[in-house]
Amino acid sequence: MSINWFPGHMVAASDKAKEALSEHDVVIEVLDARCPGASGNPNIERMRISRQRPALKVLNKTDIADPAVTAEWLKYFNSLKNTHAIALSCKKPGEATKVIAAARKLAPHRQSVVDNTKPLRMLIMGVPNVGKSTLINALLKKRTAKVGDEPAVTKNQTRYDLGPGLRLTDTPGLMWPHIQQPSDGLMLAASHIIGANAYFESDAATFLADLLLLRYPQAMAERYKVVPGSKGMDGVALIDGIAIRRGLRGRGGEPDFDRAAIALLADYRGGLLGRISLETPQSRAEMLAKKPEPEIPEAEAQAPLPQEPAA
Ligand code: GTP
Repeated sequence: MSINWFPGHMVAASDKAKEALSEHDVVIEVLDARCPGASGNPNIERMRISRQRPALKVLNKTDIADPAVTAEWLKYFNSLKNTHAIALSCKKPGEATKVIAAARKLAPHRQSVVDNTKPLRMLIMGVPNVGKSTLINALLKKRTAKVGDEPAVTKNQTRYDLGPGLRLTDTPGLMWPHIQQPSDGLMLAASHIIGANAYFESDAATFLADLLLLRYPQAMAERYKVVPGSKGMDGVALIDGIAIRRGLRGRGGEPDFDRAAIALLADYRGGLLGRISLETPQSRAEMLAKKPEPEIPEAEAQAPLPQEPAA
């Protein structure tokens, strides 16, 4: 099952972002530290490379991501050409300022702090809901950019003057037309990066539950009083268990799977499960090395079509 979400306004916004690239010195790509691979828009990377602009990858939301995994991702991104990565939480006072120092290093030719003739021009890009507006507000030290816990709150490009020699442009969150890996779509949905109309919460939650049981069994045992690894304990059983424990029942008294799925997603999104990362550089490399699963089972796809009986 593939999830795709590319609302109409993003087509025009992608074109505008592409144009804006030529007038900027550094691309600041904000990523979700819980899934830095899945939340990297390949179109943004393509545009940036074709314009030969350096990238500052900002792994945001580190307050709710696994710190050991974030360290692995920093190492990975910092090994890439023309790329520097930093990790921060916009929710922690003062952390956002790391961005300016790091961006300055990537464009040392734009350093006219005194006369403002060659300001450092930074373009903030990224998928929706990763914290671009929150980062801008933290840098401006006021609430100017519209923040919201819904994907695609920002619809237009906005330019900000950050003081002598520093300009910043905010762009709307951008998705791309086709998410190639189904697990990327599910990670983005679970992390509230994709609009809720593009997927079933029960699918995103089941994927998340399976992954959490595997990667964070202790956290699951503590929060939901389940025994990861026990017979029959999989994503579906975990969500059913949440429904039973929380008294979420349908009209006939059966566990209400959909409401429990939403509860699990809310716990993960709100950081109530502890500091969780959905992928590591290694798990991503392994996933990419696998042949994508066909949407139709291979045997069925290759089966000969039934023949029309001869007249
Ligand atoms: P779009 O306008 O959809 O492109 O979103 P955006 O990337 O501008 O994200 P925004 O700044 O609106 O933040 C989205 C949600 O993430 C909001 O609920 C923020 O409060 C939250 N958020 C931003 N930064 C952090 C962070 O460092 N940690 C946590 N836990 N939440 C954050």
